[in-house]
Amino acid sequence: MSTILSVSGLRVSYGRIEAVRGVDLSVGTGEFVGIIGSNGAGKTSMLRAVTGVVRPAAGSVTFDGADATGLKSHQMVARGLAMVPEGRMVFADQSVRDNLVLGAYSRIASDPRGVEEDIEKTLGMFPRLRERIGQQAGTLSGGEQQMLAIARGLLSRPRLLIIDELSLGLAPKILDMLFPVLTELNRQGLSILLVEQMASYALAVTHRTYVMENGRVLFDGPSAELAGDDRVLDAYLGRRTRH
Ligand SMILES: Nc1ncnc2c1ncn2[C@@H]1O[C@H](COP(=O)(O)OP(=O)(O)OP(=O)(O)O)[C@@H](O)[C@H]1O
Ligand SMILES: [Mg+2]
Repeated sequence: MSTILSVSGLRVSYGRIEAVRGVDLSVGTGEFVGIIGSNGAGKTSMLRAVTGVVRPAAGSVTFDGADATGLKSHQMVARGLAMVPEGRMVFADQSVRDNLVLGAYSRIASDPRGVEEDIEKTLGMFPRLRERIGQQAGTLSGGEQQMLAIARGLLSRPRLLIIDELSLGLAPKILDMLFPVLTELNRQGLSILLVEQMASYALAVTHRTYVMENGRVLFDGPSAELAGDDRVLDAYLGRRTRH
């Protein structure tokens, strides 16, 4: 399998706080990879450094075979990486449609028809968004905003989609709808890196999972194996899941 994303020795600091302390991680082309870990483990900080929101203090990021260390967010988007940030960050006072168009800002002028086709495709995936296409994004439910954030990310035609905390604040009913969409996107060839606090969901849908704590990767492995691993059962799933 070729590698779409590879991170080596990554460090992120906020002043004297070391949030990420030397992380190695990779995502294979077509792979669906999860990251779990408790609050403050450094998951978001690691993603911020990968996607160009913050500059890493040390280490390297390789995207699609080329060095991408320290690139800005818009440069990463141009290379084929889309990020659905923690908290979704939709443009609340813009319509659903305008949010989608903004996801395609880099090619809306050169390829308006292609953008329209892509919008249609994402609305097919998320029919709830079609019903609310003219509504201000701020009036959507949390689940609908998450659908919009994913759809907006897809509008940049990424080859790697990164999602930070898909489940945050969402009801199980919504999650049962969202996770299969990710599985289907991955089946269609999209590589996905998912940070997820609901470990049971993440382990069920991903191929491989990294466990992060205190700014480091503790261990990683096939998700199906980790779902039965004592260390994961104790810290992230609780023994209740064991029969
Ligand atoms: N902008 C910031 N300035 C200073 N410290 C920060 C900043 N963002 C995060 N931190 C600190 O860095 C560490 C890692 O935080 P981070 O948000 O990356 O963890 P996380 O694994 O995403 O946690 P969560 O599960 O709560 O989302 C924490 O100690 C946090 O307090
Ligand atoms: Mg976080």
